Amino acid sequence: MANTAGLGEPHAAGAAAARDGQVQVQQGPVAFKDAVDADAVPARPPTAHGDVVSALPVRLYHGQPMRRYQGFWVFDSWARGVVAMHRGGGLVPRAGDVVLASLPKSGTTWLCALAFAAMARRACPPASPDHPLRRLNPHDCVPLLETLFTVGRDTLLDQLPSPRIMSTHMPLSLLPATVAGGNSSTKIIYICRDQKDRLISTWHFRRRNDLPDLSLQEAYDAVCDGTCFAGPVWDHILEYWAASSADPSRVLFLRYEQVLRDPASALRRLARFVGRPFSEAEEEGGVVGEIVGLCSLDSLRGQRGNAGGAMQATLMEFSHESLFRKGVAGDWRNHLSAEMGERLDSIMREKLAGSGLTL
Ligand code: A3P
Repeated sequence: MANTAGLGEPHAAGAAAARDGQVQVQQGPVAFKDAVDADAVPARPPTAHGDVVSALPVRLYHGQPMRRYQGFWVFDSWARGVVAMHRGGGLVPRAGDVVLASLPKSGTTWLCALAFAAMARRACPPASPDHPLRRLNPHDCVPLLETLFTVGRDTLLDQLPSPRIMSTHMPLSLLPATVAGGNSSTKIIYICRDQKDRLISTWHFRRRNDLPDLSLQEAYDAVCDGTCFAGPVWDHILEYWAASSADPSRVLFLRYEQVLRDPASALRRLARFVGRPFSEAEEEGGVVGEIVGLCSLDSLRGQRGNAGGAMQATLMEFSHESLFRKGVAGDWRNHLSAEMGERLDSIMREKLAGSGLTL
């Protein structure tokens, strides 16, 4: 779901790339954990916005306080960071920035891996045995913005060489205006997943990591009534959908199920979108297939960066292994009744009506 990444020494290659601005632009991005030394920056959780946060509506999700900020539910423990990110002006956009956005458990980790591997392919050929994705979790390559703001390490983003890839679970309207605004040069890639499968994935993930006795009914109700983390999910999806419809060159809207069906086509779209289409020589050389292979579920699950350990996510810890479960479409049928599935589908149909988007 989230990470603060970057805990450790900068990797030599990444640090070298970070020193050479020209090389970065042509060859970047550099994995976040290679580019920054997070331990060197003291965590300074935001002290401002306490009055804003304490005035927000609150509810408990399985005993965890959640706050509703600007219509969306976030962990109480992240709320100041979310407000700081939204209002603070701490994220200064740069040309070439790419933000990967999603509701949790929509395929974020996969998207981080695909985008990183595609954009870094000249400096880090996918077949290379020391490719960052072979030794680092994809979230160590691509930092999650709101957790950096929550722990007060957002200044690390200034140390990340261009082009930067960052990720977020926040809706478009909670990103800083400099990123979300129509004139922003930041490219945004959104990945959307069938909400029934996303619910099941989330339920497994939370039970495995921090809420072992979370009932499926509680998780289901929160999605249906719009109170799950980063929900209402329909508003989250619709904001990115509308922005993508208005300007497809700025927001790319991907569907998890489509990426599953044809990962090579999705990867080509992604590469074109970020202005790095695959050349004929790369196509003939099999680079697309190599990236798809490197980023496949089995490949990522088996890499040494993911075989053990956990990522820290501000008051939570998620095992790397739990990020790679089944990776299929339709697993909801093993957990939800047909009636529960139909009810959630009909809520989504109703909420998305008129948008041109069907899930
Ligand atoms: P399941 O729990 O349904 O298996 P996120 O990265 O947003 O947390 O999403 C996690 C979901 O994406 C999990 O779904 C996980 O198995 C799946 N996933 C992770 N890596 C994947 C990959 N390389 N290919 C396909 N699915 C992947």
